[in-house]
Amino acid sequence: MSRPPNGIGARPVRLADIEAAEVARLPVAAAEFARVLGGGIVPGSLVLIGGDPGVGKSTLLTQLAHDIASTSGPTLYVSGEESLAQSALRARRMSLHADNLLFLSETDVETILATVREVAARLVIVDSIQSVTTAEVEALPGSVSQLRESAQRFIRLAKSTGTSVILVGHVTKDGAIAGPKVLEHMVDTVLYLEGERFNQYRLLRSTKNRFGPTHEVGVFEMRDHGLAEVANPSSVFLAERDEASPGSVVTVTMEGTRALLVEVQALASRTSLAIPRRTANGFDNNRLHLIGAVLARRLGIPLHDQDIYLNVAGGMRIDEPAVDLAAALAIVSSVRDHAMPINTVAVGEVGLSGELRSVGYLEQRLRAASQLGFIRAVVPRSAGQPRDLGGIALMPAATLREAVRSLQL
Ligand code: TYD
Ligand code: MG
Repeated sequence: MSRPPNGIGARPVRLADIEAAEVARLPVAAAEFARVLGGGIVPGSLVLIGGDPGVGKSTLLTQLAHDIASTSGPTLYVSGEESLAQSALRARRMSLHADNLLFLSETDVETILATVREVAARLVIVDSIQSVTTAEVEALPGSVSQLRESAQRFIRLAKSTGTSVILVGHVTKDGAIAGPKVLEHMVDTVLYLEGERFNQYRLLRSTKNRFGPTHEVGVFEMRDHGLAEVANPSSVFLAERDEASPGSVVTVTMEGTRALLVEVQALASRTSLAIPRRTANGFDNNRLHLIGAVLARRLGIPLHDQDIYLNVAGGMRIDEPAVDLAAALAIVSSVRDHAMPINTVAVGEVGLSGELRSVGYLEQRLRAASQLGFIRAVVPRSAGQPRDLGGIALMPAATLREAVRSLQL
């Protein structure tokens, strides 16, 4: 008789008979980090974290290692790229000194695994997965088979000992974690740390999470002594806004389960080119073209001789259509040199015939806007009357044209 693939005992079990106790997660002190993980760190889980060189991955993880070492037990930080002195320098810069925080400068996977067992680590951080190699496969460091086999060995470690593992992954030029996509399939959670070079803010996002919601975002600020949490990101993103300036519109975007207020800025300026420029920063360029076409065709706004620049302030990148209305209004506001009424947000998707389409989580968005002192919201008429308005007056509009008219832009 052939054995079932899972070995002995692979028989169907009734749902009620399956023991699935909620395991206690390792507590993560930084609430912004915990949010992205969907709570603390699940014992025996694997997290992969990617990001550009210099964005702050080692900084963030050294802080995390320190937190876990202080609360949960031995934590091993393995660096395959930096010397012990370099790791220590970083930790000292951040004034970290937990006794249970251990550093290892090593690239050999077998040695790392033995060390994890020896110190009975609760958490091991491997910085980076590209820098370590296992003697099991004869392939160059960083090659696909090395990556896959090394990751596989850490997975086996995690599942057999309950040690949680965080792997740092380098990213390629187009921003994906270098190596096979299978690395992302193998782990439980995939996070990306993003940020712009000349901007101190860093966004930590989850793109996959078996233990929590995806697309959560945590916001941090790079300081002299490490990454500090930003508890109220909306107020930071809006801090430098000039309310009275034409071309500026505030919208509310959903990042995971959180509503964030961001400023969308547009600048229209007369072009000297045969084909006017359309440049978007933090916003999809194709959508900018689409919105430009709708403004020209449905509202009769002449844009053929205007270069248009669109920018999402604070280094945010927004991919959801709910931001369309704000982008369209920002362009109109800049073309006509009329500022939006103050304390007003705009939320809605723009369709090809200029109609405004309703978007998800409208109540939650309006509540977030109200908490920051906004008093009016332009919303799609089709959204109906949201239940909890948080004290915000609605300006419903069926079309973009109607929205522009009622705002007297
Ligand atoms: P690092 O964590 O080494 O980035 P990564 O591991 O993603 O390559 O840190 C990157 C930058 O952060 C580095 O240029 C120095 C800066 N930094 C600070 O500004 N403050 C700090 O407290 C630390 C530790 C680093
Ligand atoms: Mg690093």
